[in-house]
Amino acid sequence: MLKGKVAVITGGSRGIGAAIAEKFASLGADIAVIYSGSQEAADQVCTSCSEKYGVKAQSFCCNVADFDAAKKTIGEIKTQFGTVNILVNNAGITRDGLVPMMSEANFDQVIDTNLKGAFNMIRHCCSIFIRNKGGKIINISSVAGLMGNPGQANYSASKAGLIGLTKSVARELAGKNVNCNAIAPGFIRTDMTQDFNGEDPLVAGIPLGRMGSPEEVAELAAFLASGNSDYITGEVIRIDGGLAM
Ligand code: NAI
Repeated sequence: MLKGKVAVITGGSRGIGAAIAEKFASLGADIAVIYSGSQEAADQVCTSCSEKYGVKAQSFCCNVADFDAAKKTIGEIKTQFGTVNILVNNAGITRDGLVPMMSEANFDQVIDTNLKGAFNMIRHCCSIFIRNKGGKIINISSVAGLMGNPGQANYSASKAGLIGLTKSVARELAGKNVNCNAIAPGFIRTDMTQDFNGEDPLVAGIPLGRMGSPEEVAELAAFLASGNSDYITGEVIRIDGGLAM
């Protein structure tokens, strides 16, 4: 379904990003994993993708919040892979705290990574998509961006901002055959949510009664990356067990 496509996945070294990398590889896509933390983890994802599915997979160390570094990395990926067809802006961080206590640095870091990081990647990939006369952009937002969440003013703002970015980019690039959509996950079992368990009142409030898995988010990302969703753009799809309905 994605054979011959080149997919860039930011934060692809673990959690939801790693599951998306594996899923896309299983569908035949070549994979560029962008990471900022552990090279070992990123390389492990790439090795697994290429050994299991015979695709090309390579890791690239890049802080997505850095405009120039993002430009250089997309250039390197283009040199190594020839092009880019799919961009998944998945890299994200939390620095939680109530507003009266939140430091300026914690606000800025979250906006810079989660929102500006996605802009940086889109900014440097879009000329490739325009030249290719097609492309798929998938931004990983959050239900926090739809509902707000106490203690997450910075995170919710970044994820709500991603939705505005998604819709503007969708409108700008629709004429170039580029789709841009957002996924808004609820509670997904990863390192980011390791402190949550079934006893947590937030988890107990999920209508489907459980947290989601990274693989479930990856299935949705694969749909949005494929030709099966060519008529969907500027959309925000919740995958949250009914939490934010
Ligand atoms: P995670 O913490 O397990 O993985 C985050 C990834 O982003 C890591 O690979 C990390 O190296 C990378 N990253 C962080 N800062 C970066 C930077 N400046 N430059 C490049 N890479 C960077 O997180 P998880 O849970 O897999 O989340 C992935 C995305 O899904 C995030 O955007 C998160 O906000 C979003 N999300 C997660 C939910 C959850 O319940 N786990 C719920 C809703 C949204």
